[in-house]
Amino acid sequence: MADVVRVVVTGGAGQIAYSLIPHICKGLIFGPSTMVDLRLLDIEPAKDALKGVVMEIQDSAYDLMASVMATTDVAQAFKDVQVAVLLGGFPRKQGMERQDLIEKNVQIMRLHGQALEQHADRNCKVVVVANPANTNCLVAMKYAPSISPANFSALTRLDHDRLRGMLAAKVTEKSHHKISAKDIRNCVIWGNHSSSQVPDATHAEALVEGKWQAIAPLCNDPQWLEKELVPAVQNRGAAVIAARKLSSALSAANAVACHLRDWVGVTSSSTTGDGMFVSMAVISDGNPYGIPEGLVFSFPVASSNGKCEIVQGLSISTHVRELLDATVAELLAEREMATSIIAARQGAL
Ligand code: LMR
Repeated sequence: MADVVRVVVTGGAGQIAYSLIPHICKGLIFGPSTMVDLRLLDIEPAKDALKGVVMEIQDSAYDLMASVMATTDVAQAFKDVQVAVLLGGFPRKQGMERQDLIEKNVQIMRLHGQALEQHADRNCKVVVVANPANTNCLVAMKYAPSISPANFSALTRLDHDRLRGMLAAKVTEKSHHKISAKDIRNCVIWGNHSSSQVPDATHAEALVEGKWQAIAPLCNDPQWLEKELVPAVQNRGAAVIAARKLSSALSAANAVACHLRDWVGVTSSSTTGDGMFVSMAVISDGNPYGIPEGLVFSFPVASSNGKCEIVQGLSISTHVRELLDATVAELLAEREMATSIIAARQGAL
């Protein structure tokens, strides 16, 4: 990383941004000696809230804060940015059809994609969090053709870490070894960041008594592993909303921080290194694992130093393969909807 990193956070007055800002400004993503030039973008109705966030940032007197700008001007916000965190989207409201949700978000992602194209650093790294994150990412990518598709990603690290957390709790309960999420590695989330996602613990390992060991015997609960774990992870976002009456923010921000740290950051992490992988939604170029080309799809990835590679050659169980078909079908349908909305204006995705 350069001495100063220029970062835009859209949805800058929102809940996730509020939890994410300390990660950015305390060196937890870009390292303890990288200063931050932070731009918070939001829409006009959030202008006052945005001012309040800037006051709080100033009051925090972060050592690494080079400058902070709050703006509703997209061009100003994206000027020369090296990292773009796209949190701002149109949330699903009660009674809203998927088509309506995609329609609203296509417009926002078009605006932000065009801003990336016109104003951002050509090597800008982008993470899309606003839902439907995978398809939003595809739309933003489409509108920023001079930035490599490899620089675009959607967040599934939240689902990945939910899976790690649940596995750590189960191993602690069943094996009498007290472990935490940092002792779980090589989980995979496949597909869409939605309830069709495929949480896969087949390759997961736990660090018990100094040795990485296969997860299934340590969980010692085949029924839970086969039948309960997958829906628990798939529906965790909804469970948080039901409990908090708000969607996840603390954990989402933490996941964004880990996603970026492992991809573009310089700090060491317990989730990167030889033979280790995490989950990120990236473009499915080259048909990896038989997934159709041109979808933003969550895969196991090895990422560091600004590069991210899909980990190839993992075995896929029959059960996981069946679940993959559903998440592929959902993403194809989302892409179709987005394409027809865009085609009404110009070309296809
Ligand atoms: C989450 O996974 O917590 C969120 O994506 C859920 C949501 O719909 O906001």
